[in-house]
Amino acid sequence: MRTYPNTAALMQRGTEFLGCETAILCGAMSWVSERNLVAAISNAGGFGVIACGAMTPELLDAEIAATKALTAKPFGVNLITMHPALFDLIAVCRKHGVTHVVLAGGIPPKGSVEAIKADDSGIKVICFAPTLALAKKLLRSGADALVIEGMEAGGHIGPVSTSVLAQEILPELAAEHLIFVAGGIGRGEAIASYLEMGAAGVQLGTRFACATESIAHPDFKKAFFRASARDAIASVQVDPRLPVIPVRALKNKGTEEFTAKQREIAAKLDAGDVDMAAAQLEVEHFWAGALRRAVIDGDVESGSVMAGQSVGMVRCEEPVSAIITELMTQCEAALTR
Ligand SMILES: Cc1cc2nc3c(=O)[nH]c(=O)nc-3n(C[C@H](O)[C@H](O)[C@H](O)COP(=O)(O)O)c2cc1C
Repeated sequence: MRTYPNTAALMQRGTEFLGCETAILCGAMSWVSERNLVAAISNAGGFGVIACGAMTPELLDAEIAATKALTAKPFGVNLITMHPALFDLIAVCRKHGVTHVVLAGGIPPKGSVEAIKADDSGIKVICFAPTLALAKKLLRSGADALVIEGMEAGGHIGPVSTSVLAQEILPELAAEHLIFVAGGIGRGEAIASYLEMGAAGVQLGTRFACATESIAHPDFKKAFFRASARDAIASVQVDPRLPVIPVRALKNKGTEEFTAKQREIAAKLDAGDVDMAAAQLEVEHFWAGALRRAVIDGDVESGSVMAGQSVGMVRCEEPVSAIITELMTQCEAALTR
């Protein structure tokens, strides 16, 4: 077994917190982060996280059980805060003795952190912090660790880059708190730099999405291997009346049609053919099911091929263990220099 003494020293707080060998989380990716990829990440010494997404409590129950059958190592479960059955999903995690719950998609609703931690469950809560002020608030409200994710990332994104968030948040909070950095990380040298700034570890998504163990459709993987950084674009809001939560994905027919669709809906709004609520709902519904279509069905033309800017560094299918070894080797070399 290879050792990475400099990296291990800087990752120590992160590995102790996560209960794994390397403080590299594979961020939850809806449809991609299911039992196979999650177990592979944790078995390779990283920290896998199940993406609950829109799963029902019954489906999550089955997914956790299936993941436990594939790994004895710890893994987390990512819950979206606006899920209508959030508290039932929390109960499922508690029932299974899940060690870490990640709350994503906004500020955790009142009582959710308390529900996870009730009766001294010992479950660790990880939250996403979009700004320094919110980071402090989340830590005060019981978050045990934070992920700061920049706009280079794949999936839903905020407006600020990883490098700026890291400079704003790490010097202020990283000595006292566990902060994991995400967004745009494709190589170990970048991991080294964030560890040196005080991060307890890192979270990657794009780099792991097409691992051998990922169940993503072969055409989804091919789209990743062909793409460069500039192909992973953030969705654009066309009309100030019709809000769009930006998502970074590979540009395709779907992303072009989305722009056209927004113009069409705005025109209908101007003409008084639809009311505001109906128009906003139509925009919101455009991408419904689109990630599943891309990941599972391989529809990379009209589906949503969510990918971060590090997609250009994803060249071929590799086992998770090879990816983690490469990242750790690069990180160690950088820290040793
Ligand atoms: C295909 C895809 C799906 C994602 N789905 C989710 C999700 O369901 N929940 C979530 O919190 N983050 C999601 N993310 C974000 C990842 O968890 C991770 O934070 C991000 O990919 C890290 O940045 P990187 O892509 O630059 O490595 C997704 C990312 C990708 C690429």
